[in-house]
Amino acid sequence: MFKLKNIISIKDFEREDVEFILNEASKLEDIAQSKEVSDELKGKILGLMFFEPSTRTRMSFETAMKRLGGDGIGFETSGSSSVSKGESIADTAKMFEGYSDALVIRHEYEGVSKFISDIVDVPVINAGDGAGQHPTQTLLDLYTIQKEIGHIDDLKIALIGDLKYGRTVHSLSNALGLFNNVKIYLVSPQELKMPQEILHDLNETNVEYEEVDNIESIIDKVNVLYVTRIQKERFGDIEDYLKIKGAYIINKKMLEGKDLIVMHPLPRIDEIDSDVDDTKYNKYFTQATNAVPVRMAILKTLIKNNPK
Ligand code: NCD
Repeated sequence: MFKLKNIISIKDFEREDVEFILNEASKLEDIAQSKEVSDELKGKILGLMFFEPSTRTRMSFETAMKRLGGDGIGFETSGSSSVSKGESIADTAKMFEGYSDALVIRHEYEGVSKFISDIVDVPVINAGDGAGQHPTQTLLDLYTIQKEIGHIDDLKIALIGDLKYGRTVHSLSNALGLFNNVKIYLVSPQELKMPQEILHDLNETNVEYEEVDNIESIIDKVNVLYVTRIQKERFGDIEDYLKIKGAYIINKKMLEGKDLIVMHPLPRIDEIDSDVDDTKYNKYFTQATNAVPVRMAILKTLIKNNPK
């Protein structure tokens, strides 16, 4: 049984909750990949409130809902909702609650999904809150690792790039604390190191980690290179961004002969050279496709467990 009503932070999960979703997702693979539609969520509506830009997350939630026989409504930027006229987030969320069976929220400020989950009765899913958390991305990352590597226990993974502002690596680090014997190499420029709070969580959950500033020293030691984009929009001063832009770039030559996969939550800017796209190392497009069965599993579970 899956106990959570809302998916706000991966820190609310126990290992069995993660395993439940991954297991459900693999059962839904056939429908996700076929052109068929099931009627599991027939007549149900998903409210998509995206105050920040998104391509994959929003489209895969919509696809997941449609594959389950339901439908989605929503907006893609706050400019296209009445928030731009001055309506409060609370009022907007209340309206959406009236129209929908569950809400998916993306916002530039940490804590907005939690705030909304406290004022509505339908399940709320955090689809990224500022530099905070992105728990459903983490579930599809774990699903991809499980499928491609065969295990999450004993994993050796390098998290590369913007560890300060990247919410995907924050959630993923927390999730890896639920598994055994995981080693994380944290690869970032000095200015974009993993926040102390997450390092504290890693210590608490007995995850071994090492902070390094170059890829060469760790590339032979890992199963996964998890590459991230420098989060330009979170920099106060654009000059600071320009100084570290392009700090790490993965290309085909440096991967030759290695036994690993390359993952990336996307969008990619220049962190992975396009010459990696046609190699066996590329799992970032598969990862994006895996979003559909995983988000189907999440929606089916939350909406069925919490009927309106
Ligand atoms: C990520 C995000 O929004 O945090 N994208 C995604 O959801 N796949 C990563 C990013 O924007 O760099």
